[in-house]
Amino acid sequence: MGSVVIDSAEGGVSRPPRSYFTLTPDQLSERIAGLKADLGSEVIILGHHYVGDDLLAFADLRGDSYGLAKAAAGVKGARTIVFCGVHFMAEAADILAPPGRVVVMPDPTAGCPLADMADIDQVTAAWEAITERAEGDVIPVTYVNSSARLKDFVGRHGGAVCTSSNAGKVIDWALSIGSRLFFFPDQHLGRNTCHTRGIPPDQMILWDPDQPSGSSTPERIAEARVILWKGHCLVHQRFTVEQIATWRAQRPGIRVIVHPECPFEVVQASDLAGSTSFIIDQVEKAEPGSAWAIGTEANLVNRLKHDHPDRFVTSLSPVPSICVDMHRNRAPHLLWLMEHLAEGRVINRITVPAEIVEGARIALDRMIEITGG
Ligand code: 13P
Ligand code: SF4
Repeated sequence: MGSVVIDSAEGGVSRPPRSYFTLTPDQLSERIAGLKADLGSEVIILGHHYVGDDLLAFADLRGDSYGLAKAAAGVKGARTIVFCGVHFMAEAADILAPPGRVVVMPDPTAGCPLADMADIDQVTAAWEAITERAEGDVIPVTYVNSSARLKDFVGRHGGAVCTSSNAGKVIDWALSIGSRLFFFPDQHLGRNTCHTRGIPPDQMILWDPDQPSGSSTPERIAEARVILWKGHCLVHQRFTVEQIATWRAQRPGIRVIVHPECPFEVVQASDLAGSTSFIIDQVEKAEPGSAWAIGTEANLVNRLKHDHPDRFVTSLSPVPSICVDMHRNRAPHLLWLMEHLAEGRVINRITVPAEIVEGARIALDRMIEITGG
């Protein structure tokens, strides 16, 4: 197979024709597998744990957001990275990948509503108001679930990115070089992680970007050690303490494990909290016969259930919580993309504008350095 012509990138979003959606799962699999074999080491497919099995079956590497960012940074042979996940993850891959690589997505419109809860104008306005009032150095930390533009902002203002797997280390670092932390956009990850670092609730304030002065008084802003952005993930905000109580009553001994994007009281009532990879590790190493109620996205829970029939695995919520955006990437989109790549044509490319790559890269590199590689 000849190499992919990366400078023939087409703009916009390219979607498969309707007929691709009438193909059977077997037809789709066969055709994708054939193209993947033809493209060989020219292409690497990275898949987040939340995408469906129809795509993950073809992933050369599966991971959480940190694992996939590291994988993109370490890509060796492949010139094209097919990123099966959401837009901010593909942006991070584009920033971190070695020069000459192209990042494409099956459906580049797969975004993250949490990431969209903070934009550069709102964050810049908040930063000005906070740094004007707060005493001492304020260090900005952005969750990786944010646009590249916000990562650039953080990089240029002495801060770092974090993911759910390293937020503790990054927050420790931020509070070791500054006296205050400005954390966005996920209030829950920020609050849950600060709690594990022994920061009491009265030292944290919530910044509401839709209210004057973030809905805080100048005194509270001046005193606060941690300023948390008022953002959340709808998929994880659906889990409740009542659901935990119901499972504990129904199945004594059940272990409850949740993602730290869940609300504080849910994390407190759980047995364990951690990233998607952490959740998988815990269930994988658990003894047969153990029971697990899991507070995270449905695709991951269903996969764990399927892969461990000797364990009782269930979603914490009665109605499984689905990330609609992760689901935008489906096998017909992957087939369409692979067919184009096999013809040497790049579609659905994710390119971070040159003017923000530098700052965003600083913030991402700092995260990797703080995490210890
Ligand atoms: P992980 O960092 O655990 O992969 O989580 C990413 C995410 O978007 C969770 O909703
Ligand atoms: Fe974003 Fe939530 Fe989906 Fe994760 S689960 S990608 S935070 S919307």
